[in-house]
Amino acid sequence: MIDLEVFIVERISLCQGGPEFSRIVYGWWRLAEWNMDTAAIQQQIEQCLELGVTTHDHADIYGDYTVESLYGKALGAAPHLRDKIELVSKCGIKLISKNRPDHKIKSYDTTYNHIVSSAEQSLKDLQTDYLDLLLIHRPDPLMNAEEVARAFISLREREKVKYFGVSNFAPWQFDLLQSFLDFPLATNQVEASVLHLNPFQDGTLDQCQQDEIAPMAWSSLAGGRLFFSDDPAAVRTRQVLQGIADRMHAAVDQVAIAWLLRHPSNILPIVGSRSIDRLRGACGALDLELDRDDWYAIWEASSGQEVP
Ligand SMILES: NC(=O)c1ccc[n+]([C@@H]2O[C@H](COP(=O)([O-])OP(=O)(O)OC[C@H]3O[C@@H](n4cnc5c(N)ncnc54)[C@H](OP(=O)(O)O)[C@@H]3O)[C@@H](O)[C@H]2O)c1
Repeated sequence: MIDLEVFIVERISLCQGGPEFSRIVYGWWRLAEWNMDTAAIQQQIEQCLELGVTTHDHADIYGDYTVESLYGKALGAAPHLRDKIELVSKCGIKLISKNRPDHKIKSYDTTYNHIVSSAEQSLKDLQTDYLDLLLIHRPDPLMNAEEVARAFISLREREKVKYFGVSNFAPWQFDLLQSFLDFPLATNQVEASVLHLNPFQDGTLDQCQQDEIAPMAWSSLAGGRLFFSDDPAAVRTRQVLQGIADRMHAAVDQVAIAWLLRHPSNILPIVGSRSIDRLRGACGALDLELDRDDWYAIWEASSGQEVP
């Protein structure tokens, strides 16, 4: 088995000429629930970096618009950490929130003004001069791709954001936005896990392979459902994962992450546990090579049927 004490996560380029990220990404969505003070957040960041987990995923809306400033306070107190980290943020969702009293309805907004002002607010909250990657959080039925492209170009020219991408986009929505840009969108961040098979079948990951962009997988451990859900698919999948884990002297979460890593589109799993030990464990997946039989056994358990 891999020695996780001395283990450093490998790095991967998201697209041609694109940013280099850690293959395992840390997700900060749940930070507001973790009751961590600034010193503890700083320590959490430092422990991620010791593992080589340098890419940190955020969004303006996380924690009802509070997570980026909680994290930013820690980063602001330790500015030497900034150039060791790749910061990802997202924009385009408007929540009803006491922190955004002008929002009247939960909606999407991909106008020039919203994208630019949201990115600038993220910079302020995160206490940084630049984002490494900015994503449009969800497809907006009213998206004017030319307008989104103008916002991206403006942020890029003013060196506020280095790279751009999307999240939860269908391949045709991705293509539409890409057609207005003369630089590549760096990623599509989508839900993917042993309990969420859609992107393997709906063209999302095929497009990533074709365009040579590495997708990022959110809720890579199914948001924890993998461990506690009584849903029949979760129970079946857990059982199969446990059998494989026992045989490989590994843990269930490692096999679940290894299942994502095995896909040829070069998925970057985003792990959202508050526990550094669990993050360290998940990183051990990089040392597990699943064979096709095991991969399909997990697929069959999750989908509840043999492949046709
Ligand atoms: N683009 C999007 O639309 C989108 C949407 C959702 C999330 N995201 C991103 O994806 C990141 C990851 O999402 P996620 O938090 O749902 O990821 P996840 O890693 O699938 O789930 C994390 C949850 O699983 C629990 N967990 C992990 N290992 C466990 C174990 N061995 N036993 C029991 N429970 C375990 C964690 O609890 P503990 O904390 O107690 O370990 C935590 O509650 C987010 O932080 C965010 O950055 C993006």
